[in-house]
Amino acid sequence: MQIIDGKLVSETIKKQLAEKVTELKALGKKVPHLAAILVGTNPASETYVASKVKSCAEIGYNSTLLRFDAQISEQHLLDHIRSLNENADIDGILVQLPLPKHINEELVINTIDPNKDVDGFHPANVGRMVSGLPTFIPATPYGIMLLLEHYRIPTKGKHAVVIGRSHIVGTPMSILLSRNSYPGNCTVTICHSQTTNLKEICLQADIIVAAIGRPDFVTADMVKEGVVIIDVGINRIADATKKSGSRLVGDVNFKEVSEKASFITPVPGGVGPMTIAALLKNTYFASQGQQV
Ligand code: GUN
Repeated sequence: MQIIDGKLVSETIKKQLAEKVTELKALGKKVPHLAAILVGTNPASETYVASKVKSCAEIGYNSTLLRFDAQISEQHLLDHIRSLNENADIDGILVQLPLPKHINEELVINTIDPNKDVDGFHPANVGRMVSGLPTFIPATPYGIMLLLEHYRIPTKGKHAVVIGRSHIVGTPMSILLSRNSYPGNCTVTICHSQTTNLKEICLQADIIVAAIGRPDFVTADMVKEGVVIIDVGINRIADATKKSGSRLVGDVNFKEVSEKASFITPVPGGVGPMTIAALLKNTYFASQGQQV
């Protein structure tokens, strides 16, 4: 069994991007600039956004964090996005999700300039991805593709089971894994809350991408020997033995499933850091007027 070290791979990618920043500076060109919008004080969102902004600084990008009260009006938020769209110094815009209930997420995403949509959530970019055109690939699935590639994990003809159908992870992941390129060419099954025979399907999987948001959901009896496990879950659970009183676990029971897996991502230190590395790559592409 090999542990997929997302932290290490993300550090390598960040180093490569930092070198590109050094080159841009040497040529007197502007460095990539990411604008992040955070509405309210959701603790998980606070952590994610802080980590994105910190990573920008580490590799020499500029970043701007716009924080708004949870009560901000939808109109006001849209005006801020439009002004970032028009600001030539800003290359990438991300609005951290989820948003408060009174704000229409779809409208917010539709307002971001597709050329600055480094999350790849705008319908124009989703359409481009489905059509196999260059686009911004959503950061979590993009990070997973980079991990599969880095570890040269065989994917052609394999049965990939994606658990979860969110627009952020499950749906784009299933499209990318079925594409006619490496990593891809998988036969993909998407499972979700209405799937009735989940265990049976998982037992047929060569690759499982777990993006359900339920701690330790995938157990050893659900997987076959040699399976590749990609665990997207980041669940905080109580643990009285920890100083903080809690710890992070994935959607997969690492202890038991790792005994059967050929490759497995740990939580933390697997997919999480790669999501940030992928976002930074997208932001670099946006600054160069390119898409993946
Ligand atoms: N919330 C959970 N994941 C993401 C993400 O990748 N991007 C944004 N903007 N919000 C999220």
